[in-house]
Amino acid sequence: MSHHERMFHHEHAHKLDDPERRVWLPVDEVLEALGLGPGMVVTDIGAGTGYFALPMAAAVAPLGRVYAVDLQPEMLAELRKRTAEGAPVELVEADAARTTLATGSQDLVFSANVWHELDDRNAALTESARLLRPGGKLAIVDWRTDVDQPPGPPLEHRVGERLVVEQLLGRGWTDIESAGVGRYGYLVTARRPGPGGS
Ligand SMILES: C[S@@+](CC[C@H](N)C(=O)[O-])C[C@H]1O[C@@H](n2cnc3c(N)ncnc32)[C@H](O)[C@@H]1O
Repeated sequence: MSHHERMFHHEHAHKLDDPERRVWLPVDEVLEALGLGPGMVVTDIGAGTGYFALPMAAAVAPLGRVYAVDLQPEMLAELRKRTAEGAPVELVEADAARTTLATGSQDLVFSANVWHELDDRNAALTESARLLRPGGKLAIVDWRTDVDQPPGPPLEHRVGERLVVEQLLGRGWTDIESAGVGRYGYLVTARRPGPGGS
């Protein structure tokens, strides 16, 4: 199965704005679980049109920053339109595995409903570890595999919570926590591996 079959195409961007989504994936619940606060520097991998990146920017303002990384320039163009004047959001057109952001610069690397779209999750983890400051956290929100109903990608495209946890454990990430989020999702968080791991 190729990446292009799984990738959420920008022509469907409007689906990310479905008002129902606010009910089944409440932004506040996620932001609270992440402990986001003023001054934090965050990368949102696969930020799309900013469902999380924009409220995150409001939470870390004025001194913090959100780097909104996405492969599809059309998504970033839409995100730019939605960004309030002066909001601390930087658009980065790049792949999750090669963000070009500075080493050790991030307090949090976040991704929502993107993990299952990635071809090389190991490369994305290596890049995330590189971006994080010592003690920095990774947070992955994605679709549960035990609820097979719309909305969401087909079951065979999903990457379950257990697989994510196992992959993180295998690569030396620590303090791994995992919980349900919203109606169909999970949130896995972990702390950056020490020197030698990724
Ligand atoms: C389902 S959308 C989710 C967008 C946003 N996180 C949200 O929750 O509304 C997935 C996004 O991930 C992006 N994406 C997929 N693979 C990527 C990769 N390898 N690197 C960067 N972005 C990627 C897609 O372009 C798309 O905008």
